[in-house]
Amino acid sequence: MIKFDASHANLLENIEDYQQEVTRIHKMIHEKTGEGNDFLGWVDWAINYDKDEFEKILKVADNVKDKAEVLLVCGIGGSYLGARAAVEMIQGLYSKNKTEVIFIGNTFSSIYMKQVLDYIKDKSVVLNVISKSGTTTETALAFRMLKQALEEKYGKEDCKERIIVTTDKARGSLKALADKEDYETFVIPDDIGGRYSVITPVGLVPMAIMGIDIVDVMKGLKDSYNDLNNDSLKDNVAYQYGVSRRIMQNAGKDVEMLVTYEPNMTMIGEWWKQLFGESEGKDGKGILPTSATFSTDLHSLGQFIQDGKKVLFETLVTVKTPMLDMEFPSDDDDADGMNYLSGKSLDWVNKMAYEGTLEAHEVTGGVSNLIITLEDNSAYTFGYMCYFFFKACAMSCYMIDINPFNQPGVEVYKKNMFKLLGKN
Ligand code: PA5
Repeated sequence: MIKFDASHANLLENIEDYQQEVTRIHKMIHEKTGEGNDFLGWVDWAINYDKDEFEKILKVADNVKDKAEVLLVCGIGGSYLGARAAVEMIQGLYSKNKTEVIFIGNTFSSIYMKQVLDYIKDKSVVLNVISKSGTTTETALAFRMLKQALEEKYGKEDCKERIIVTTDKARGSLKALADKEDYETFVIPDDIGGRYSVITPVGLVPMAIMGIDIVDVMKGLKDSYNDLNNDSLKDNVAYQYGVSRRIMQNAGKDVEMLVTYEPNMTMIGEWWKQLFGESEGKDGKGILPTSATFSTDLHSLGQFIQDGKKVLFETLVTVKTPMLDMEFPSDDDDADGMNYLSGKSLDWVNKMAYEGTLEAHEVTGGVSNLIITLEDNSAYTFGYMCYFFFKACAMSCYMIDINPFNQPGVEVYKKNMFKLLGKN
């Protein structure tokens, strides 16, 4: 389902030379003996997920779907990026979906907040607030304002049908509030951290309300779990990718740029940046993850990639068969001189841009490329891809003795901010 190709990367070491280390770490991940082992719930989630809760998601989504001209998803970080990446990858940016999704609670911006509140005034709205801790300030601030707006519009009683809370099973003020107000709640498992949580109700609830087939997401996840549950570097594409990243960094490449040729995959880049950046960037170590969407960024960052300082390698995520395609028309006058493309499919043109760019960057520019090929942009492939990246990330981090599952660094800004805001 996923192909990995390192033949355009000019790796200075053999991937398979790392077999012993990979075997040791694979065991560590599956036997849950490594650092951060209390956050390895995602490893067997494809098998162990709560089936009753899954059924409840389908039921609740079905009930609220017709009530939602707009679905507001309020959350930040791991409680935001996965759902957005999934919806955009699977449905595209301008789908015919009758529900529009707006992500909120990930900024303090007054402009953003005010405009969203104005925008939803005359629309029917369902709100899914997502926070594992239940105390994240960006999310809590937005949630209070949205809750008040919804109560004013629908009354407290109706809000029970329109506000859905995804949070810890027992802890945090959000859980207490949800119980008090009698909102529908979904549980974020204790042993799955934010950036690994898109496969839990964190991602599944918004996806289901948006009409995505979450049964297919879980099927993809399970197949990926089965395919990648082996330590062989000959077969395991996630570990091949994880090891290749390390080989790239050993060769002095401290920056990895995830590149897509599909605008509806741009948020996959954002989600991936959090996954790898928050997991790996610790103790003065790690590769800086960045992302780009081509052709758009070929006309901006393309210059740096081609000719700038040789600090980076690219990881291309390509989609073999995109969900939509069309033929380029011919024109009798051919005044724009574009008839040489008449009859060609747009995806073929995109793939030619990809091949030309790959050669330009690799051969002329000396920039290494790792290539990940996805079959398509379906719900199934999304689920499959999530597990691929989770496994690759855990492997990559453990290879440099990093705990992939904590994020001590993100607390520093909060401490300073709370002091300035006068929080006790
Ligand atoms: O990956 C993480 O753990 C973080 O990005 C969190 O998801 C983010 O800080 C939001 O936290 P919470 O869900 O507790 O509001």
